[in-house]
Amino acid sequence: MSLVKVTNLSFTYPNQSHPALKNISLTVPKNSYVTIIGENGSGKSTLARIIGAISLPQNGQVSIDNLLLDKAHLNAIRAKIGMVFQNPDSQFVGSTVEDDVAFGLENHCFSPEEMNEIITKYLKLVGMNDYRFRTPESLSGGQKQRVAIASALAYRPKLLIFDEATSMLDPQGRQEISKLIQNLKLRQLATIISVTHNLSEALVSDYVYILNHGEIQGRGTPTEIFANQELITKNHLKLPFTLELIQQLKKAGFPFENEQLSTTELVQYLWTLNSTT
Ligand SMILES: Nc1ncnc2c1ncn2[C@@H]1O[C@H](COP(=O)(O)OP(=O)(O)O)[C@@H](O)[C@H]1O
Ligand SMILES: [Mg+2]
Repeated sequence: MSLVKVTNLSFTYPNQSHPALKNISLTVPKNSYVTIIGENGSGKSTLARIIGAISLPQNGQVSIDNLLLDKAHLNAIRAKIGMVFQNPDSQFVGSTVEDDVAFGLENHCFSPEEMNEIITKYLKLVGMNDYRFRTPESLSGGQKQRVAIASALAYRPKLLIFDEATSMLDPQGRQEISKLIQNLKLRQLATIISVTHNLSEALVSDYVYILNHGEIQGRGTPTEIFANQELITKNHLKLPFTLELIQQLKKAGFPFENEQLSTTELVQYLWTLNSTT
């Protein structure tokens, strides 16, 4: 069953001659992990903002959990959605980590005990419970994004939307947050839509959409998408390094049963080749 259904969605910003989204149709099944990739200006954030009920659709329809996204359902839909954005600093609203998670819970009439329990649960989940009384200035970008994820999860949204949540982080932070997103998917904590420049992240998702100039130019499983060199090139995307290397090695005649290897696994595999030749 799909949690998100977008049908013939188009959107043009005021005073713009070209639409930012043109006739987009897509579905996101419940508990799946979907990534949206595409170069800058392709319409990813516009799509994320509409699915996230920040903006309303102009043409076409969006439904979230069987509710049609219109003015009447705006608040009901927003209550089902958590969003995590690119900039770790602009999302931190509390004066401490604990405050930040509590902030999103304040309208939900929890008792102080319940609140405390929920905060502990989600801070533990993202590995930030030891930082509970820290101020934002003392945290790294990756740690702030973890808190943003805990804050979003705390009110139990059905849908979590990440818009380039890893793009301002250093490589370690990026990897940590990508792992955390995968973990959320494994635990089926929410349906996940992630807009990302990090194609390694798309590689581990269930399904990928490619946007270009406001249109969907490609859709498929990561295996389907990344095997289609023409699609990748045409949309100015760059394969993750390990996958690029694996594809070159395959062309050169090396057998690979599984193309979704991490860098460490690939290195191990290359060592086994080395010792058998
Ligand atoms: N607030 C805005 N007002 C006018 N045009 C916008 C606005 N935000 C985005 N755009 C335009 O809409 C198109 C899609 O932008 P966006 O959705 O931000 O793409 P992406 O997230 O893929 O980089 C771009 O041409 C961009 O310039
Ligand atoms: Mg964007």
